[in-house]
Amino acid sequence: MTEIAILGFGVVGGGIAEALTENRSVIEQKLGERVKLTRILDLRDFPDSPFGAMVTHQFTDILNDGGISVVAETMGGSHPAYEYTKALLEAGKHVVTSNKEVVANFGAELLQIAAAHGVRYLFEASVGGGVPIIRPMVNDLAPNEITAVDGILNGTTNYILTQMITRGVDFDTALREAQDMSFADALALAQANGFAEKDPTADVEGLDAARKIVILAGLAFGTLPDPAKIHCEGITEISATDVHAAAHFGYAVKLIAHAEKKGEQVLAMVSPRFVPFSSPLAHISDVFNGIMLHTDLTGDVMFYGRGAGKLPTASAVAADIFDIVAHRGEAVRAPAFRPASGADYADFAAYRCRSCFTFAGGESDAPALFAVFGKREFFAADGHISLIGEEMSEKEADAAARAVGLPFVSRIRLV
Ligand code: HSE
Repeated sequence: MTEIAILGFGVVGGGIAEALTENRSVIEQKLGERVKLTRILDLRDFPDSPFGAMVTHQFTDILNDGGISVVAETMGGSHPAYEYTKALLEAGKHVVTSNKEVVANFGAELLQIAAAHGVRYLFEASVGGGVPIIRPMVNDLAPNEITAVDGILNGTTNYILTQMITRGVDFDTALREAQDMSFADALALAQANGFAEKDPTADVEGLDAARKIVILAGLAFGTLPDPAKIHCEGITEISATDVHAAAHFGYAVKLIAHAEKKGEQVLAMVSPRFVPFSSPLAHISDVFNGIMLHTDLTGDVMFYGRGAGKLPTASAVAADIFDIVAHRGEAVRAPAFRPASGADYADFAAYRCRSCFTFAGGESDAPALFAVFGKREFFAADGHISLIGEEMSEKEADAAARAVGLPFVSRIRLV
């Protein structure tokens, strides 16, 4: 029997307790032994919960409990989750987590500490919720060189954009309805399903996706960028005009997290993008996540599933516990990366892609756009005119937008 503890009895922590209880016989049958939850750390009491008696308010009750060998950290936030994780690893306990903030900010150090103490630090649930992505990258695709990663990594924003695309509403309405859902269907989304972050700014401004793409970049390229140092744009500026222009040209607007290797450097970024309808990523709707890995041997590999929510995320955490128990005492492949230093970051200003440019104006303004971008298809509606330019660097695109001489409205990159 393996005894485990949970730090943080919120949506995901509660989901793990539920998953281990509800699926006890499935897990025991596959694992050949019992995984028993014995302690839960939380600031609150849960007198009505069947797990209420396990709750402690003292971290040391778990740290000093010699019977507990695996701890699931689902507290969220960097502190004290980082300090607790470090102490547990140093005490010789395995730690599994859904906490992308801790992995993105301290993952390299925590993996080193785990290795030094002969234990494992696993974080399948930190990216893609219930979608298996970390383990396939570490194990199944190990013989491949991964050249780039493109992902829809935030369920909340994908839900909002889906509303905007399918119902033609603007960002404010879609956000209001998403919040209504997480409020009116309160417990359905935010609590039972656990989609939005405590502070939903992290979702809509792209930071949640930034934390996730740096983790994937670390696994793919061996260097973990600082999420605060990568280019990060959210969806708050996306308008119905952008969505209509995208549809006109054959694209869907998605919040895309992208990472690629540029020589020895890494480029990671999050921004809204026009994704062609021919790409499977364009068809990932609602709170679903999709991750496309570009690899040399396997080619493109796509992962799809529920990127947020109580039981999908709990399943990924439980899978890490399962992995630790199943391979106890064995030398297993561990994820590994080092923190990026200044020289590891590729220059974002030199990043090249095509973009859709939108200006205030109408059909009669087309010649002003043609003068800069050349004569090409344009889309004019509702006092705006849009056109897709050729591939340019960030710097060139900014200069081109200024050169048109019409009031600039938006530039959205193409995948
Ligand atoms: N707020 C996150 C999302 C939760 O919407 O994807 C899962 O990490």
